[in-house]
Amino acid sequence: MSNWKEIWNRRNSDEGVIDLDTLIKLDGYDTGAGRIDATNWRRHAASIANRLGINNGATVYEVGCGSGAFLYALRELFPIKVGGIDYSAGLIATASQAMPDGHFTEGGAATLDIVPQYDFVISNGVFHYFSLEYASEVLERMMKKSKISVGIMDIPDVATKDEAEALRRGILGPEEYNEKYKGLEHTYYARSWFEEQAKEHGFTCKIFDGCVPNYAQNSFRFGIIIHK
Ligand SMILES: C[S@@+](CC[C@H](N)C(=O)[O-])C[C@H]1O[C@@H](n2cnc3c(N)ncnc32)[C@H](O)[C@@H]1O
Repeated sequence: MSNWKEIWNRRNSDEGVIDLDTLIKLDGYDTGAGRIDATNWRRHAASIANRLGINNGATVYEVGCGSGAFLYALRELFPIKVGGIDYSAGLIATASQAMPDGHFTEGGAATLDIVPQYDFVISNGVFHYFSLEYASEVLERMMKKSKISVGIMDIPDVATKDEAEALRRGILGPEEYNEKYKGLEHTYYARSWFEEQAKEHGFTCKIFDGCVPNYAQNSFRFGIIIHK
C-alpha cells in the first residue's frame, strides 16, 4: 500500500484561500465517480453527526483526516474540539492552517495514540488504503481512544467489489484504469468483519448503507458505528 502514500504525500495546498471546496479537492473528492460537492459534503457531515450524536462542545478525532475536510464541515455545524492524524505531511499542514486550534499529527494510522481520549473517533474514506491486518490494529486503537463512539464511513463493500471496479473502469476506460491503478489496489471489507472486530472487544456494531447525497459510490460503500 506504500504507492498510495506517495500519492497522498504529493498533495498540499498552493492555493491562497482555504475553504471547504479547497479541502474537499485536496482530500481527493473532486473528480469522477468519487466527486462530492460542498453542499452534499455538508449534508453528509450533518447526517453522520446526527447518527453519532455529535453536539456542541464534543471532542472529535479523525484517523486519516487528510486536509481536514470532514472535520471542517463538522466545525461549521458545532463548536467542537478537533484532532487528527494522517501520513501526508502536506495535508496535515493544510489541516493545521484551516483549523489552527486543532491537534494534528503527521503519522501512520496504526501509530494512533490512545491518549488523550476523544468523545468520537471517526474515519472517512480511509480504510480502503489499509490491509486487513493493519485495519484491525487501527480499529482497536480507535475503540480505545473513543469515549462515546467510533464512526467509520465510506468503506468499500466486498459484496459489490466487481460492480465498483467495473464503474471505475468504465469511467476511465480500461487502459487509463490499468495505468492509473497499477499497484494501487483498494481493500474491500465484509460487513461482518467489523461486527466480529467489535465483538472481540465486547462492543456491538451498527452498519448502514452508503448515504452521501448524490455520490456515485453509495451502492458500493457502507459505514459503521461502534457505541461504547
Ligand atoms: C480520500 S482521503 C480522505 C481524507 C479525509 N478523511 C476526508 O474525509 O476528507 C484519504 C486519506 O487517507 C490518508 N491515509 C491513507 N492511508 C493512511 C495511513 N496508513 N495512515 C494515515 N493516513 C492514511 C491519506 O493520506 C488521505 O489523506
